[in-house]
Amino acid sequence: MRDAVRSVHEVPFSESATEPDLLRFPPDFLWGVSTAAHQVEGCNDHNQWSDWEQRGRIRSRDRCGDACDWWKNAECDFDLAQQMGLNALRLSVEWSRIEPREGQWHRESLLRYREMLKALLERGIEPMVCLHHFTNPRWFEQKGTFLGPDAARLFDRFARRVVEELGDLCRHWVTFNEPNVYASLGFVLGEFPPGRVGDVLTAFRVINSMARIHAIAYRSIHAVQPDARVGWAHNYIWFAPANSYSLLDRLVTRLLNELFNESFLRVLERGRHKFPFNLVGENLSETKGTYDFVGLNVYSRLTVSFDFRQRKQLCARVYVPPEVPQGDCGVDRPYGEACPEAVKIAVDRAAKLDKPIYILENGVPDASDRIRPWLLLNTLNEIYRLIETGRDIRGYFHWTLTDNFEWTEGWNLRFGLIELNPETQERTMRPSGIIYQSIALSNGLSRQMLEEHSRFG
Ligand code: BGC
Repeated sequence: MRDAVRSVHEVPFSESATEPDLLRFPPDFLWGVSTAAHQVEGCNDHNQWSDWEQRGRIRSRDRCGDACDWWKNAECDFDLAQQMGLNALRLSVEWSRIEPREGQWHRESLLRYREMLKALLERGIEPMVCLHHFTNPRWFEQKGTFLGPDAARLFDRFARRVVEELGDLCRHWVTFNEPNVYASLGFVLGEFPPGRVGDVLTAFRVINSMARIHAIAYRSIHAVQPDARVGWAHNYIWFAPANSYSLLDRLVTRLLNELFNESFLRVLERGRHKFPFNLVGENLSETKGTYDFVGLNVYSRLTVSFDFRQRKQLCARVYVPPEVPQGDCGVDRPYGEACPEAVKIAVDRAAKLDKPIYILENGVPDASDRIRPWLLLNTLNEIYRLIETGRDIRGYFHWTLTDNFEWTEGWNLRFGLIELNPETQERTMRPSGIIYQSIALSNGLSRQMLEEHSRFG
């Protein structure tokens, strides 16, 4: 492993910018990266994603394999995060390792997570732990996941257990990562397990159920650890109508915005959906206000036009115009428009919830680092301006530290500040990694760097 990381160590540290040249961030700002257990740990076949892979559903045909080898050696990447001057790191715990069979707790897994959190703290890095990042233990999947009759009790029991075991090492908890992505990719677009297509109503029920379960876990976590800070990670997409003069384009864009961006968010904000969506489903009043912070995952802008042929997707054609800035393409579709201003749209909405905001994911698939430096610097510039105008943004977590296993895209899409060769586990710092290092070490953005990367391409 020592050899494998040599190329990173050899990269010279950039000097921090001098005072007048620097857009300085608040003193306790968190400079982090985000990761997820299944994407980095490797060698786990107890969850529904390993079944999905077995069934040949990874478009790139890749195998998750050892991923970034974190189960054995996350410390290698923690060293690199420390060298980069990061003071925060978001990871998730894998429920299927901790409770591989219903009601049976795997002590060694909990101990390994304790070891990982301690390793972060020893390096001056504050952990933020997410309890659910898309993966379910196989037995939970078989019981109907979040629609199963026992789902709330089972997830709550798991959440309590984790916080009891790890609470002395972590204060910030994310219950769910992106319920809106989990539900829409799993039940409308068929790209995530269980692979259902066009089942909008079920997706909506999944979101409602996850909101209720989030609220239950929120209260349990506080009961176990009174000073915990608990939130969730919300994926926010900027949907823009293809033709802003077209009533139908605008209508279908609003519908997507309501269902995707607003559903979970508004339920937690107000304890109910907006009319007419509040007519579907159960009473959600108990969910109101169950968050201490709002986590935002912001990646792209997508263009929307009305298309009667797309009936399974509510007559919405969602696409990326070819001329806009974008990173690498997926196996058979573009990933999205890389758009620094998207963070402003998301933050302005989240600010209405009147709690601290963390940007918990932001990044771009870009193996050759062609566009990442531009996106990183210009997104951070937006964040700086937002803080200046009074938005309470407490941290930025880039997705991601080291290239990792990108769900159905496998190794085809590379999001890392550090390049990974999954065969040899060799790591090589990308130029954007060096840029991020200098930002974190100086707690600010250098105007000169911004100037250098002011234009895309
Ligand atoms: C997910 C990550 C994923 C990233 C890049 C996010 O929506 O939380 O797991 O790797 O997007 O696609």
